[in-house]
Amino acid sequence: MKTIKLGGALEASAIGLGCMRMENLDVADAQKVIDAAVESGITFFDHADCYGFGKSEEIFAEALERTDIRREDLVIQSKCGIRKGRGRYPFCKQYYDFSKEHIIEAVDAILGRLKTDYLDTLLLHRPDTLVEPEEVAEAFDILASKGKVRYFGISNESPALVKLLQKELNQRLIVNQLQFSPAHTWMVNQQIYMNMNDGQSVGRSCEVLEYCRDKNITIQAWSPFQHGFFEGTFIGDYEKYPELNQVLDDFAKEKGVTPAAVVIAWILRHPAKIQPIIGSMNPQRIRNIAEGQNIEITKEEWYELYGAAGNVLP
Ligand SMILES: NC(=O)c1ccc[n+]([C@@H]2O[C@H](COP(=O)([O-])OP(=O)(O)OC[C@H]3O[C@@H](n4cnc5c(N)ncnc54)[C@H](OP(=O)(O)O)[C@@H]3O)[C@@H](O)[C@H]2O)c1
Repeated sequence: MKTIKLGGALEASAIGLGCMRMENLDVADAQKVIDAAVESGITFFDHADCYGFGKSEEIFAEALERTDIRREDLVIQSKCGIRKGRGRYPFCKQYYDFSKEHIIEAVDAILGRLKTDYLDTLLLHRPDTLVEPEEVAEAFDILASKGKVRYFGISNESPALVKLLQKELNQRLIVNQLQFSPAHTWMVNQQIYMNMNDGQSVGRSCEVLEYCRDKNITIQAWSPFQHGFFEGTFIGDYEKYPELNQVLDDFAKEKGVTPAAVVIAWILRHPAKIQPIIGSMNPQRIRNIAEGQNIEITKEEWYELYGAAGNVLP
């Protein structure tokens, strides 16, 4: 089993399993998913209180109880900060809340649903522009001192916001969870197309890749097989991604794995030591994807795949 040190501090499996889609499973199927993951060396599980508005966490906990797996052998992460709106307006189904009160309440509810005394990591899910960093600091101090959370991180946050928070916090932020896949490479594009007329040069990622590497914050790649914002997987979508699928198929054949495993090897090849968070709820697919941690991608192959997704190098 390959491991990674999140933020140089917390040992975890090199690949994580995201439980966003677990709300759709019954407990028996969820058990098969957890067993397949652990048998494949995936012992890191990613949750959020908004996944099924708690349902994913509940199903996970019930399913875990049916396995022989011990809680202490897993690294369990959850996220908070996205709240369900009161439903008064159709355009405001949710809002963001990093207040001290909400963070503490949310963690207590997460621990109750996951039936555990502690989270290994807690992430703030999406930037709350109304954040008061001092309040976050107070909340984190309380959660850390009570042993409810071991490590902290953020998700979808710019370097500037990380700096703003970090200067008030007594704990180091060790993770930033960001969307990243061969079909979603904005944080790489910004390096490669820097200062060009090309549309790829447009700064969408605020140099978050360089910043996280510099500060030893582990980037977790969410939705490693999706394109757009949950538009679907690019794997097997020959209509939208013909070249990418051609190259994935070639590499998969040569290396004796599935195209999805090639994607994982491609993400792991980046020296930023990115941890992919996969979301499959199919036990066999999880096993196949995990094989990606055992294959090598050369530098040239890395750029070939990057190019196949539509990125013509300057
Ligand atoms: N921080 C954030 O803002 C944020 C946002 C989104 C997600 N996340 C995290 O990231 C995790 C992963 O997200 P995701 O589920 O969108 O990731 P994903 O691994 O890119 O996508 C998985 C989905 O693609 C389907 N799929 C179809 N063909 C596939 C193939 N050949 N290989 C792999 N998957 C295939 C899977 O179906 P099957 O189940 O049938 O395999 C599943 O529905 C989530 O669970 C969550 O923990 C975080």
